[in-house]
Amino acid sequence: MDVSVDRRTFLAAVGAGAIGAMSDEDKAEELEHYLIHKLDDSVMPELDGEEAALIEWDQQAPRPPRGTGNLFMPREEPFAPMPAKPTLEDFFRLRFAPATHVLQSAQHALETDQPEATVMACLLHDVVLNLIKVDHGWWGAQLVEPYVDEKISWGIRYHAALRFYPDESVGYEYPDLYNRIFGEDYVPDAYIREQYEFARQHRWYMEARMITVNDTYGFQEGVQPDVEQFIEIIGRNFKQPKEGLGYDNSPVAHMWRTIANPNRPL
Ligand SMILES: [Fe+2]
Ligand SMILES: [Fe+2]
Repeated sequence: MDVSVDRRTFLAAVGAGAIGAMSDEDKAEELEHYLIHKLDDSVMPELDGEEAALIEWDQQAPRPPRGTGNLFMPREEPFAPMPAKPTLEDFFRLRFAPATHVLQSAQHALETDQPEATVMACLLHDVVLNLIKVDHGWWGAQLVEPYVDEKISWGIRYHAALRFYPDESVGYEYPDLYNRIFGEDYVPDAYIREQYEFARQHRWYMEARMITVNDTYGFQEGVQPDVEQFIEIIGRNFKQPKEGLGYDNSPVAHMWRTIANPNRPL
């Protein structure tokens, strides 16, 4: 990973008190969230003087409640209005932006001629982190399940567990970062291990594994791919409902509406 992080900075950002109360799995989720934030911040224009001081102050300031995504971050500006029949592209531009990490992962898959389904899976694999962090593989798969090939949502579901387990056949190593942050004795929760073992035996194993491989190319500082280059792939691999995402009465329509309108009181 190109985004550097050291233990002290990470602890300071998360809060030493909060870390003490976290399970190892929570810490891993928090780290992923932290890295993605750091990346999104890194593509902001460089500022100096007072502006930089204000930005510093800003970074200390609001954080979404534990387990929740950016959409629940306290904010002063209202969210940009969504079109009446929003498409996946609208969600990328208006709710997931800058979406640097998933765009970089998908771009790597694209540039290395991986199958379109893998590019699509990479594009979607972490978008649910904007909504919720805990168990994001499962939430993320569910969010897109009605609209994509089953292999794509399957891969998204299991990528989260596979992150913790190396696979030399595709050059995926256990992230050194996890050793540095959590210590070398970190052991994922039993349910994570069980999910990994299930996926490892499954005929679609590589669908999830390649997400973890491309994931490691999704932390390049200062690189901001545009969703534009994926529009045709989205068109072929995402069944956009004609009523708009959130209004098609699918089993997950409410999740898209919540992303569109996270502040509704009820
Ligand atoms: Fe992920
Ligand atoms: Fe990721």
